[in-house]
Amino acid sequence: INFPCLPPGGKHPDGSPVLNRWSSVITKGHDFPGAKAMLYAAGVPDKEAMAKAPHVGIASVWWEGNPCNMHLMDLGKTVKKAVVEKGMLGWQYNTIGVSDAITMGNDGMRFSLQTREIIADSVESVTCAQAHDACIAIPGCDKNMPGVVMAMARHNRPSIMIYGGTINIGYSECLRKPINVSTCFEASGAYAYNTLKQPDDGGDTSKTKDEIMDELEKNACPSAGACGGMFTANTMATAIESMGLSLPGSSSTPASSPSKMRECVRVADAIKVCMEKNIRPRDLLTKRSFENALVMTMALGGSTNGVLHFLAMARTAEVDLQLDDIQRVSNKIPFIADLSPSGKYYMADLYEIGGIPSVQKLLIAAGLLDGDIPTVTGKTLAENVASWPSLPQDQTLIRPLSNPIKATGHLQILRGNLAPGGAVAKITGKEGLSFTGKARVFDKERQLNEALDEGRIPRGENLVLIVRYEGPKGGPGMPEQLKASAALMGAKLNNIALITDGRYSGASHGFIVGHITPEAAVGGPIGLVKDGDVITIDAETNSISMAVSDEELEERRRQWTPPVPQITRGVLAKYAHLVGDASHGAMTDLF
Ligand code: FES
Repeated sequence: INFPCLPPGGKHPDGSPVLNRWSSVITKGHDFPGAKAMLYAAGVPDKEAMAKAPHVGIASVWWEGNPCNMHLMDLGKTVKKAVVEKGMLGWQYNTIGVSDAITMGNDGMRFSLQTREIIADSVESVTCAQAHDACIAIPGCDKNMPGVVMAMARHNRPSIMIYGGTINIGYSECLRKPINVSTCFEASGAYAYNTLKQPDDGGDTSKTKDEIMDELEKNACPSAGACGGMFTANTMATAIESMGLSLPGSSSTPASSPSKMRECVRVADAIKVCMEKNIRPRDLLTKRSFENALVMTMALGGSTNGVLHFLAMARTAEVDLQLDDIQRVSNKIPFIADLSPSGKYYMADLYEIGGIPSVQKLLIAAGLLDGDIPTVTGKTLAENVASWPSLPQDQTLIRPLSNPIKATGHLQILRGNLAPGGAVAKITGKEGLSFTGKARVFDKERQLNEALDEGRIPRGENLVLIVRYEGPKGGPGMPEQLKASAALMGAKLNNIALITDGRYSGASHGFIVGHITPEAAVGGPIGLVKDGDVITIDAETNSISMAVSDEELEERRRQWTPPVPQITRGVLAKYAHLVGDASHGAMTDLF
């Protein structure tokens, strides 16, 4: 919708710049006296503010029951205070999210991905309905970041994202090592397979496995903030900062750091710059900036979910980003970060050695990251990080580009007779680059989790565990899986690959392939696989195939019947009806 607004660059009679380009439609003169009466009641202080002050929406994804989100109201209050001190009107509001870690492995997870759309829909709704002139969004957990950026791309009014920040690092006395929430998921596999033990290095090893689990659960999440590894939240925040939509350092500043509050104050000047210079989200969401997002994701070992969200954000901004672009960037960017889940460090550690701007500086200097893209500061990305410290010589978190963990990116786009529409693999190389094994098929994630809990997945021959009917429509909701990959790691079941038409948590690692398209519920070949079929995943040829003849597949297809939807009302039914495939971002407004 083309909402009426004043053209950019205008001046008020006193010579000050017109920043209230959208809100002036309802606040000028006496065209909408009822609207003005409501706004006075809500806090507009006087006639001058009504005539001139821009309305800045401050959209946090605050809610209490999740460390990723529980502090966002406080960040929003700090932003509001700073915005008002700069002569603007700040309107705090809220949208909803769900916790990926809390819903992981249970039916609540079906609701997770669709919250991205709810967040986008609600921020778009408030911005447009209330005639806001700008938007400052404060997301925390995984889907929050793409959700608010999709909203920004839709309303296209000056916008900045403040990431809620990463969580602090936990510590386990029992395991005598730093831990995070994914440690708990991995421990559940070790618990089931009776391999959960304290290290025998001379300390007290008297704890039972239940006592160890209790201790992990109590200490894995020691503060507010999003999951601390290079999981989905930190992946998306890093990418969005590298696209120019956040202030420098936003994605690596921990939630509980005083610097996060300082960022909330600095944002007031920055949003004013965006309004004055008419810097709008679609000026920043370009093919070049999406390439930057991909470069950072590859270099730091980011989440497979990034692929889904980048595709959705790009389509919302009408940027032509395809699966093949992801592979192209992966082919040229070395994987250099020893970050969890595949590595040993956390985002809070990266903050201590300079944070994301220092990594950007390294990659810009190497010609791998585009430093010339514009950003919300009114400067280029290279200008933003020019005064930032370089990474210290003696650090071991970011490897030199000349000695990477893997010479190319860990995310691979695979195609083949199992995924003709594409699939996304996370292959760091630690487990090799190709895998062949016999299929063992599970028609829902729950079935595989039960098999793992009961210790029914055998050690021995190579297995490819397939979880299907968990795609965007079939799930419905494309639930994210972590329990299985973490449990396999914890139980040290190393000769196993995982395949799904659903998603994997950013905390997952191992040989995993998700987003298989087309999904089983719409007749994709993943629905035709039988136990014992030989599956080959090859990251060097970018293929995923089953050794089943075309004739046999055709016969199986004749016998296949589409599943009867189990959920026919409510938000998941609506979602299943509207959602598109994973290779196009699993969007609900791509008709
Ligand atoms: Fe929120 Fe992991 S559960 S970022």
